[in-house]
Amino acid sequence: MALLLTRADVASALTMTDAIDAVEEAFRQQQLGTAQLPLRTPIRIPQHKGVVLFMPAYIGGGMDALGMKVVTVYPENPSQHGLPTILATILLNDPRTGKLLAIMDGGFLTAMRTGAASGVATRYMARPDAQVVGIFGAGIQAQTQLRAMCAVRPIIEARIYDPMTDLVGKFCQEMSAALSIAVRPAATARDAVEGCDIIVTASTSKTPVFDGQWIAPGTHINGIGSHSLDAREVDSLTIQRSKVVVDLRSAALAEAGDLVTPINAGEITADHIYADLGEIVTGKPGRADAGEITFFKSVGLAIQDVSTAMKVYELARQKGLGQEVSL
Ligand SMILES: NC(=O)c1ccc[n+]([C@@H]2O[C@H](COP(=O)([O-])OP(=O)(O)OC[C@H]3O[C@@H](n4cnc5c(N)ncnc54)[C@H](O)[C@@H]3O)[C@@H](O)[C@H]2O)c1
Repeated sequence: MALLLTRADVASALTMTDAIDAVEEAFRQQQLGTAQLPLRTPIRIPQHKGVVLFMPAYIGGGMDALGMKVVTVYPENPSQHGLPTILATILLNDPRTGKLLAIMDGGFLTAMRTGAASGVATRYMARPDAQVVGIFGAGIQAQTQLRAMCAVRPIIEARIYDPMTDLVGKFCQEMSAALSIAVRPAATARDAVEGCDIIVTASTSKTPVFDGQWIAPGTHINGIGSHSLDAREVDSLTIQRSKVVVDLRSAALAEAGDLVTPINAGEITADHIYADLGEIVTGKPGRADAGEITFFKSVGLAIQDVSTAMKVYELARQKGLGQEVSL
């Protein structure tokens, strides 16, 4: 029997703190060499304007988790089919036998594990007294980014900037009620940067969303939105001023326009990347002093999905969630 878990099951099983702890352990295992993480395999379907990505991983050590996410990106889904752009499903297998343990919705889980990676980076890289966060984008990723910031730092205020202003009002209302902090619209992009201790870019913008001159010393930035070479959310100055940590160098150099664009322009070299997140969680110092600007760039790794899915499976079993199915 395998456990079938809907989006609602995943949402009621998993807290952000659980997701952050699972993802931190996944990055530790990756650094220790127990994880297997092949590059994600895309199949492009131009006649339907879509792409499907296959993202398998095995994580060893105490975690012993095996699985794969299948994620589809169809930008015309919302307008043409009334469906989300991104749909995802996760298969979790028993590493001892290969038997299927669970099939679960991967949409909410993707947002949670992406928030969790920023949570891990923020835990090690942001100033301990960080209280104000500026967020670019008011979509699903922005929600879990804010939840993650609140899980690891004593956040009292969040400022949200998104050109889709109608989304911002709803976002602020829902998130201030959910997190019991002040969540307000940022009047301008600059208002979401100046006076903020942490900045998160979680937008679909293909061009920089703020000016690197606006960043104050001591700021930590999580850049999670762009993951293709033709897009970037931060400018070269931001990168030049920052100590840069990535989820994984090979993935960042293959997919992160935020870094590859300034490298190709000769504004930085690849050596400007200080560390992978796995190095930081296994002891390489994160922030050096209170004045340093730190930048975490994530493109998203299958170890995040599989570690979080394993945690969901364990919690769902404890809580009696989901439906047993025989295939
Ligand atoms: N790093 C990862 O692991 C990871 C995982 C999932 C999604 N993503 C990426 O995160 C991004 C956000 O995803 P989502 O699901 O929340 O998308 P979404 O479409 O729900 O929200 C994105 C928001 O960004 C806004 N935006 C566009 N330009 C902006 C600008 N200049 N300033 C501020 N906001 C702007 C849009 O108006 C939109 O409301 C996407 O690019 C997605 O591909 C990354």
